[in-house]
Amino acid sequence: MAGRHKVTVVGAGNVGATAAHWIASKELADVVLVDIVEGVPQGKSLDLAQAAPIDGFDVKLVGTNSYAETANSDVVIITAGLPRKPGMSRDDLLKTNSDIVGSVTDQVAKYSPNSFIIIVSNPLDAMAQVAFRRSGFPKNRVMGMAGILDSARMRCFLAEALDVSVENVTAFVLGGHGDTMVPLPRYSTCAGIPVTELLSEKELAAIIERTANGGAEIVGLLKTGSAFYAPSLGAVEMTEAILKDKKKILPCAVFLEGEYGVNNLFVGVPVKLGKNGVEQIIEISLSNDERAALQKSAAAVQELIDVLGI
Ligand code: NAI
Ligand code: 2OP
Repeated sequence: MAGRHKVTVVGAGNVGATAAHWIASKELADVVLVDIVEGVPQGKSLDLAQAAPIDGFDVKLVGTNSYAETANSDVVIITAGLPRKPGMSRDDLLKTNSDIVGSVTDQVAKYSPNSFIIIVSNPLDAMAQVAFRRSGFPKNRVMGMAGILDSARMRCFLAEALDVSVENVTAFVLGGHGDTMVPLPRYSTCAGIPVTELLSEKELAAIIERTANGGAEIVGLLKTGSAFYAPSLGAVEMTEAILKDKKKILPCAVFLEGEYGVNNLFVGVPVKLGKNGVEQIIEISLSNDERAALQKSAAAVQELIDVLGI
């Protein structure tokens, strides 16, 4: 009988530790939690292991400051880095987090050369590109999580406005994970009905704006960090789609080579995730305005890539 899957989560802070929690409680895989701070990944893993008898999950949890224990992971979720502080943009994090993500990726590629890498660290699209370049992995094995979060935020606001179950609502958000992200109400539905038929332009405009500012809204409230429940679950949904070969269509940041008119850049688009990672990039038709908005968003990501020179 094949053993359990193995997932490494790098960064045992808010997003990483919560991702470990979701993975364990869903019994998706054994989890190795890595951080540079001594004691923190060990303490959080031990605490989580002690929750196992209460919740009833059987997975192995290891906390560590080294990569030896991460060897041969199936999926590695990278959350290492600094989060945004109030007034700070995701792009302010560029230099610091690219050094962190680069050095973490070196270790991941060394110890888990066949893994799938899911990046969460910000600025998301640029950090995915750092991991892609540094790992040398093929493009189907490196991806960034942001679109699931951004569209979940939009779904949450749409369900609230429509007074329906969140399960009835789908939403589409393309582009980079930043102020220029592209929410697409035309492709967002309630029980299959486009939301453009259910809400006024004014109501939709307010939801689009709140979605694009969704991260900053939470940073403003928390003051000492950024969102982590929904972001970590977004990364775990991607992990589950790969480990269970679900062929699930999800918005993810992936390396585009001409799709949507974008070249050599990670940007969020709908993809199919299965046992081979990114199995297909799905191109949907866009209006001229939507295409222009996506180009603008891609240009904002390109600026960061130019600064990094990668
Ligand atoms: P946090 O500060 O709670 O945790 C970050 C952890 O990374 C800390 O424990 C820190 O010690 C660790 N770390 C730093 N350098 C490291 C290294 N070289 N190796 C291993 N661990 C290292 O931050 P939080 O809230 O967990 O956020 C993590 C990252 O995720 C941030 O960059 C944040 O902006 C980003 N983020 C991205 C989202 C997205 O949609 N893509 C959503 C939410 C957060
Ligand atoms: C968010 O959107 C900070 O990127 C993070 O919550």
